[in-house]
Amino acid sequence: MSPTRGSARDDRRVFPHRHLLGIADLEQADLVQILDLADSFLEIGERAIKKVPTLRGRTVINLFLENSTRTRTSFEIAAKRMSADAINISGSSSSATKGETTLDTARNLMAMSPDVIVIRHSASGAPAMIARHVEAAVVNAGDGSHEHPTQALLDCATIRRHKRRGQAGPDPLAGLEVAIVGDIEHSRVARSNILALCKLGARVRACAPHTLMPRFIDRLGGDLTAERVREVSSLDAALDGADVVMMLRIQSERMGGEIPRFANTREYSRYFGLSLRTLARARPDAIVMHPGPINRGVEMMPEVADGSRSVILEQVTYGVAVRMAVLYLLGGGDGSSPDARA
Ligand code: CP
Repeated sequence: MSPTRGSARDDRRVFPHRHLLGIADLEQADLVQILDLADSFLEIGERAIKKVPTLRGRTVINLFLENSTRTRTSFEIAAKRMSADAINISGSSSSATKGETTLDTARNLMAMSPDVIVIRHSASGAPAMIARHVEAAVVNAGDGSHEHPTQALLDCATIRRHKRRGQAGPDPLAGLEVAIVGDIEHSRVARSNILALCKLGARVRACAPHTLMPRFIDRLGGDLTAERVREVSSLDAALDGADVVMMLRIQSERMGGEIPRFANTREYSRYFGLSLRTLARARPDAIVMHPGPINRGVEMMPEVADGSRSVILEQVTYGVAVRMAVLYLLGGGDGSSPDARA
């Protein structure tokens, strides 16, 4: 992977946000600033010594009150690659298990003067609530079914790398057709991606069983998404000529106690699972994405997940670079060039 050092990136632009709570708060210029910075940070992960001094002396607390493999690990690696001190707290090891409220937890952490608090929470809106009460920058690492902004950013970074179009024009992803398929109702990844992709100029086909499609998904971002998002109920129609295929997991953990939304996973897989046969409807150069974790054999067959068009592990690699960019912009870097050598 090659970074875009020497590109038209504007290093002097002041990032105009104190927190990163959702893609809904960001303008296209903010998204492009993060993506450009992430491209430049990608190369640090390929060095023998993967460390720059940019956030030396800063403290990042990763407060993960819901399970995570990729996001938590990549925020920790991102902080450490920039020489910040990274502290990880998980739900099972925190005093939340003793009845402490999330706000009390955050206030107590704040008393230890962190610069950035990265929070994952099962409740939509929890990071925004905490941001109103602490001085540290707050990064939403996924809140309920609301938003997962850094996932959308790493997805857009991956798409831009593979499908770089419209570089000279205002919309970096102009002309791209992106199919997002799966449990859209419960997916914070889908919400953040729909907003980010539309702001960057792509068009989105949102595909789910009726029982897993939220009402008015095309109105998520007002007129912008009304113009660019199309609801599609058949997988074939969603994939037909698509440039990017983004598959989502069924979020069973958010359906506790509800009436089942579909008969069984076998039937779901038959109608909405991505196989080599169904993928053949997409463009021959279409890329296949998934935020993880994958339920192999349900939303995606193993031969697709591991196939030549899958960029799933590249997404994970970009996850570190994107989170470095976010920590740099919100964590008050030392003012040295973000490309700084160690
Ligand atoms: N994509 C994602 O958020 O994965 P994790 O739940 O493992 O962090």
